[in-house]
Amino acid sequence: MGERPADAALGAFSDTPPWIIDLDDLPWRMGLDIVRDRTRAEATRLTARRRVPPWRRILRVLSTIGPAVGAWYLFDRRKGRTASRTGLSRRLRRAFGHLGPTYIKLGQILSSGEGIFPPELVGEFKQLRDRVPPETFAAVRSIVEGDFGRRLEEIFSEFDEQPTAAASIAQVHRARLRSGEEVVVKVQRPLVATLVRNDLAVMSYLAPHLVGRIPVAVLANPPALIELFAETIVEELDFRLEAENMLDIAGVLASTGQRAIVVPRPHPRLVTPRVLVMERLSGFSWDDVDGMRAAGVDTEAVLRATVVSFLEGAMLHGVFHGDLHGGNLFVQPDGRVALLDFGITGRLDARRRQAFLRLVVGGTINDVRGQVEALKELGAFRVDADTDKVIADLALDAEPVDVTQMTAEELTGELRDLTKKLLAYGARIPKELMLFVKDILFLDGAVSRFSPDVDLLGEITSIATYFATRYGGRIAEEIGVDPREHEVDLTGVRSTLGLPATTERISYRELQARREEVRKKFARDAAAAGGPAAPAPPGPGGAERPS
Ligand SMILES: Nc1ncnc2c1ncn2[C@@H]1O[C@H](COP(=O)(O)OP(=O)(O)O)[C@@H](O)[C@H]1O
Ligand SMILES: [Mg+2]
Repeated sequence: MGERPADAALGAFSDTPPWIIDLDDLPWRMGLDIVRDRTRAEATRLTARRRVPPWRRILRVLSTIGPAVGAWYLFDRRKGRTASRTGLSRRLRRAFGHLGPTYIKLGQILSSGEGIFPPELVGEFKQLRDRVPPETFAAVRSIVEGDFGRRLEEIFSEFDEQPTAAASIAQVHRARLRSGEEVVVKVQRPLVATLVRNDLAVMSYLAPHLVGRIPVAVLANPPALIELFAETIVEELDFRLEAENMLDIAGVLASTGQRAIVVPRPHPRLVTPRVLVMERLSGFSWDDVDGMRAAGVDTEAVLRATVVSFLEGAMLHGVFHGDLHGGNLFVQPDGRVALLDFGITGRLDARRRQAFLRLVVGGTINDVRGQVEALKELGAFRVDADTDKVIADLALDAEPVDVTQMTAEELTGELRDLTKKLLAYGARIPKELMLFVKDILFLDGAVSRFSPDVDLLGEITSIATYFATRYGGRIAEEIGVDPREHEVDLTGVRSTLGLPATTERISYRELQARREEVRKKFARDAAAAGGPAAPAPPGPGGAERPS
């Protein structure tokens, strides 16, 4: 490897800089703190319960979703559980498509909730991911020229009229600057900013009426979900914030010495609220695991580095990429991961970050009390909930039980019981953890393809040991527990995974087989009794126990 670029200490950027980042010479960053605060405030205002509902928009939403649900009610509802759900999902997906960007975005988010939402819904909503027709080139030109105040040709020597990608908010074009550098240009769709703002007002008015009626949905914390959705989408509408997120994440990665991840450099001048010009990166698409292996990439190492730097960012710096999915990551032939799309960036304030640290560290040393306290601090349980009672009631300190040894009836009973108790404690997933959980679900899926045969318990142990060795002192100072003084104890992890206490090692493949076994048991049972459908079997990212 040659010389490190001059901005290597500032951020985990590529080794082939098209320009060098100088934090004191980024005019678009001026006053951005205020913009960020204002954006937050606006999201809060948009989701505040309004006294006078925006009737016209409500009517439009209802008149689109209403017939979809009505048609399902008339035609599909009695066809049996799966057909019925498929029917409703398909009709809702079409309605969301018609309602435009905000709903498409919401649908895309639901589609990444594998294991949380019904599989029929997830499958159907996946179609919203790449079914958005692009804007015409004329529209793109007009936005670029409007924001830069110059003709497109004065800035770019080449500009691909066909977008590389078109999503609900923006589309991305490859281009080359007059000075020769290869870049991509992310352009915001016209009108989208106004549309989104109107939609959010309607959504937050309607959501409590619709979702608020389903008791179990309370656990998913719908008001916080809407709030989070509003915050992230409003922030996504200003690309200057996204460009700053790139610098922040790149900075955190550089400070932890992580060189396994690469972030594109935003252009020092060509960033506006609606146009973001950045360094072009390339690599294997995240799904092309075969291609990576054929090129000699160690996919296990790639995933390990991704997980470690994700955790370092969240637990020690309170900043993490909040939208991990296959489209937002490339794997370079040199085995480094190109991280893209910083529109949604998770940020935890010091208090929440430390609670979160206590939660995760607690999971690796089986400190159940610490975990419950941390969850309370994060707002997952009512503050007045008695920690010891929660532990006893939910049997959080019980020995792990082998789920494959339980009958479907026992499992259903446990689940029902747990849900009831959680509801009684006012449990709900805290807003701050939602993005994190979504990312974990993605990483969970990545394990199945990148490292299906790696021993998960061994992997968790070595990551825990890395954090203890490298950050033990700092962690002890922050949360009063020194991980160096405790043995790694994965009892809680085993519990969460539904493994017996004696399990020494387990690969994802083996875990998957166990999940499948449990799922089949449910399917048999449900078919025999016409009973409840299989809930998601326990697995990584499952929420049976804090871990
Ligand atoms: N810096 C980049 N270099 C190369 N390709 C990029 C870059 N940024 C984005 N892309 C491509 O464009 C797609 C969409 O960009 P992204 O920032 O994810 O937009 P969106 O927020 O609409 O998802 C990405 O999935 C990737 O294929
Ligand atoms: Mg993206």
